[in-house]
Amino acid sequence: MTTKERVLHLLEEQRGAYISGEAIAKELNVSRNAVWKAISALRDAGYQVDAVTNQGYCLLPENDILSVQGILPYLPESAKHLAENIQIHQTLVSTNQTAKELALQGAAHGTMVLAETQTGGRGRYTRQFDSPAGGLYLSIVLHPEQLGFQYMTSVTAFAAVTVCEAIEAVSDAKPQIKWVNDVYIGKKKVCGILTEAVTDIESGQLGWIVLGIGVNVNTDPEKFPPALREIAGSVFPDGSGSRNRMAAEILSRIAAPPHPPQEADIMPKYKQHLMMLGQEVHVVQGDTVYPAEALDVDDAAHLIVRTASGEIKTLSSGEIRILPPE
Ligand code: BTN
Repeated sequence: MTTKERVLHLLEEQRGAYISGEAIAKELNVSRNAVWKAISALRDAGYQVDAVTNQGYCLLPENDILSVQGILPYLPESAKHLAENIQIHQTLVSTNQTAKELALQGAAHGTMVLAETQTGGRGRYTRQFDSPAGGLYLSIVLHPEQLGFQYMTSVTAFAAVTVCEAIEAVSDAKPQIKWVNDVYIGKKKVCGILTEAVTDIESGQLGWIVLGIGVNVNTDPEKFPPALREIAGSVFPDGSGSRNRMAAEILSRIAAPPHPPQEADIMPKYKQHLMMLGQEVHVVQGDTVYPAEALDVDDAAHLIVRTASGEIKTLSSGEIRILPPE
């Protein structure tokens, strides 16, 4: 770690409190001048560091720059080791793309790639995913043998539950899942999830999984393209959230849970958060749209619906979308 990173680490650990230059210098075993230079470099990087005579330096609570040092204090003990494999970039084409490259090079379970913005963020069905500043864009490399899931779709359901729990941990919002894995607050989507996996051709086993998660944490609603403003929302539209904390809440739940997660643990939580169960929905399959009642989800997160003619259908996420009736 550079002196700048070590100073940031100390300031992040006591964010909002003043630490004297002398105490920092002593703790890090560097000169007062080296501390001062590190503080200047942090300010140049955009950090708001207050300095008060006789009190010292204070990282102001409103700083929301992503950093390993900023994520670390929010990771529980059982997940601190994951900080070794966090990469943060100013801009990437897509964090999923970079994470896949790392996975191919043998990246460890729990490796997380983040970017302040993405120039080619991707959503499901090869759609583009707008990634303006203020959002949290991250991808986590997962090794299937460390997850207890039989079904690939369960990984996505697990991620959706995790994002809901992370939002609940940091805010008073009541997030809900729109099948299969979009997270909403009220009528607005605040998170999209894109799961990609590679299968070993010889063994037929899943090789690795890249879980891409985009959460509008502090996104200013004005920053969404006009066409999205009606349907996209933010967890903290006033920009008062901490993306570092949200990243830590998500990473620790996904990659360092106390026990390997199982469908039996996840599906009840998934159902609890699922919107539209017991309601009339519109099933969109290619050019066909038909009304149905959303009855339940099975262990593989398939949606069970009853059509108008009384037929019970089990829908996999593939090409089907569910819309509320007009
Ligand atoms: C969707 O809503 O269709 C899924 C969106 C997934 C977006 C995330 S942002 C981080 C990661 N990188 C990407 O390019 N996509 C995912």
